Amino acid sequence: MEAQFLSKMDFEHLEVVLLHKYPQYLKSCCELINNEWPRSETARIMSLQASCDELPTSLILVNKEKHLFGHCKLTAIPSMPKSCFVETVVISRSMRGKKLGTFLMRKVEDYCKNVLKLEMIHLSTKGQEDFYTKLGYVVCPPVSIYGSSISYSYNSKGKCGTLTTPVPIQNIDNSAALNDNSAAPPPPPMPKPQSIINTLKSNRTYMFKYLI
Ligand SMILES: CC(C)(COP(=O)(O)OP(=O)(O)OC[C@H]1O[C@@H](n2cnc3c(N)ncnc32)[C@H](O)[C@@H]1OP(=O)(O)O)[C@@H](O)C(=O)NCCC(=O)NCCS
Repeated sequence: MEAQFLSKMDFEHLEVVLLHKYPQYLKSCCELINNEWPRSETARIMSLQASCDELPTSLILVNKEKHLFGHCKLTAIPSMPKSCFVETVVISRSMRGKKLGTFLMRKVEDYCKNVLKLEMIHLSTKGQEDFYTKLGYVVCPPVSIYGSSISYSYNSKGKCGTLTTPVPIQNIDNSAALNDNSAAPPPPPMPKPQSIINTLKSNRTYMFKYLI
């Protein structure tokens, strides 16, 4: 079992860097992510090319031999300027279970705290709750990365408190229709980009961590 893990020496050869500073990793990063969540290469590359010093930012896990093992993207949460949303966390299949995911997330947290000066990290997951729990993340109400007015207050220990805008997330699309008693039916809601729908899916577990 122990042989599974990387030695201390191996970890010393790993580093987490900004993808936009190392564009030579763009293609392998695209393959790594698309291997897990298939999408057109063009769309994926365009999304990765948006990485910049301000959010969104893609961080990659590489070694001295220039192999890429992991990726993680940070996105702004408009209603929570002191936090960011971590998404597309992935470690290459053959390297899972060796603590590389833990290593990547720890470095990402350091970056968020020390470079971006953030106080919290939010994320959503479906199936990886145990991984994030072991890293200190706790379940919280859903957050939107699309400028919704939904926001929550946090006490000094970072525990999630009250919902400041009591709009159930599942009612966002049709709340106007539900309250309208007039004869004419309201027009159907505008279709939303798939990314918005994905972010607000209620079957995902939202988690957050206070960066201390
Ligand atoms: C989730 C993922 C990033 C974890 O990376 P990893 O390098 O395999 O994780 P680690 O080796 O650092 O694991 C740390 C701990 O979490 C546990 N863990 C990791 N993945 C887990 C899972 N899916 N379910 C339960 N526990 C998990 C490990 O057993 C380990 O526990 P231990 O400290 O008691 O030994 C990786 O499995 C992955 O890329 N998965 C596919 C993409 C994905 O689902 N990403 C998450 C999107 S929200």
